[in-house]
Amino acid sequence: MRYQRPKGTADILPDEAQKWNYVEETARMLFNDYRYQEIRTPMFESFDVFSRTSGDTSDVVTKEMYDFTDKGDRHMSLRPEGTAGVVRAFVENKLYGPEHPRPVKVFYMGSMFRYERPQSGRQREFHQIGVEAFGSNEPELDVEVIAMGMDLLQHFGLSDLRLEINSLGDKASRDAYRQALIDYLDPHFDELSDDSKVRLHKNPLRVLDSKDKRDQEIVKGAPSILDYLNEDSKKHFDRVKALLESLNIPYVIDPEMVRGLDYYNHTIFEIMADSKALGEGYTTICAGGRYNGLVEELGGPEMPGIGFGLGMERLLLLMNAQNVKLPVLDQLDVYVVGIGEQTSVETLQIVQALRADGFASDRDYLDRKPKAQFKTANKLNAQYTITIGETELKNKTANVKQMRTGHEVTVAVSDILHDFDDIITKHFTDDEEID
Ligand code: HAM
Repeated sequence: MRYQRPKGTADILPDEAQKWNYVEETARMLFNDYRYQEIRTPMFESFDVFSRTSGDTSDVVTKEMYDFTDKGDRHMSLRPEGTAGVVRAFVENKLYGPEHPRPVKVFYMGSMFRYERPQSGRQREFHQIGVEAFGSNEPELDVEVIAMGMDLLQHFGLSDLRLEINSLGDKASRDAYRQALIDYLDPHFDELSDDSKVRLHKNPLRVLDSKDKRDQEIVKGAPSILDYLNEDSKKHFDRVKALLESLNIPYVIDPEMVRGLDYYNHTIFEIMADSKALGEGYTTICAGGRYNGLVEELGGPEMPGIGFGLGMERLLLLMNAQNVKLPVLDQLDVYVVGIGEQTSVETLQIVQALRADGFASDRDYLDRKPKAQFKTANKLNAQYTITIGETELKNKTANVKQMRTGHEVTVAVSDILHDFDDIITKHFTDDEEID
């Protein structure tokens, strides 16, 4: 029996994991600059946490949930996205309390699960880096979140990104729009897909997001949400646009954008890239928006919120396609070569002492001949080798060689154990220090 990973999942092997680490570390540093702190919430929650928030007409809830009944007869689901769990945690742990300065700004990284048809950049287990900010309705915060998303992608060396924005307005605007949409779509009822027929009266905005070609044709003539924004909503959106301009962040307004989850209002946005690696046309890498009302929906006080989610797999596919070079983080500083079995204790002591000193070091564990050990040191791109043979063992010395220049010195083993950094400074002074 040969086992295979579940469909729509991926093994992230060491070479690839290095890139993930780089991306995650870079994101952490940037989030620190913007003062977002990490939050970790469970990988599964009550099914209701997602159905109440993403909306029970959304594809995510109706078709893609990894839900199950646990042994205690509770209806649970693996998280399809990060926002609902963070909002649940925000309410349950009373992060809205006065001891938490507002806006409360958090980020998270981790696996999400959606039962989707796998394809390039679309998996059943995928990973998001996400942020959420609670407690301010100021358009300035919308723009901070959008700017941070753009900043993050630019930090990864990506170019040719497209920022699309739209506004869904407040509840009153959306109610007015909802009626206008129903009035427009009703005469086309018989031509709509089965999904859209069900959704028309429950949540007509979902019809705008339909993947069905016929639905898409009908929707082309639908009224635009932007014509239904009331004064307040229009003012909010105008301010967001003006602030983006003041930061020189180019954007395109897509009046048809509604997003796939139900909790949004006011500003919504998607950062996209046109790359074959992600399929035909523009694909969204990072997306989000405002969700005023969601905290209340999960039992908290009135508290606005906004955030985004960025797809790790899509990000890495795009970085690969755009040939972004990542700094190598796995430098091997020293490879210790032992000639003869009797040197084994010394070489082990040396690698351990070097590691304790912060040098990435390794040695042979397969009893290989010196030639094979040097070959390994070369292959691993070691900066230095330290060699001990019979003579060195007798003299309590070792040979230190800088691989790049071939420059070699003999030093006392005790000096290596005591302070290898000093040996490098003394004998390889012209060369950059290693860290
Ligand atoms: P979303 O648009 O559903 O939003 O997902 C955000 C990003 O996650 C997508 O743009 C995409 O890059 C990635 N993604 C989604 N599904 C998949 C998949 N099956 N395979 C690979 N990548 C995928 C949200 O999830 C919201 N929680 C974002 C948000 C946070 N809004 C406010 N705060």
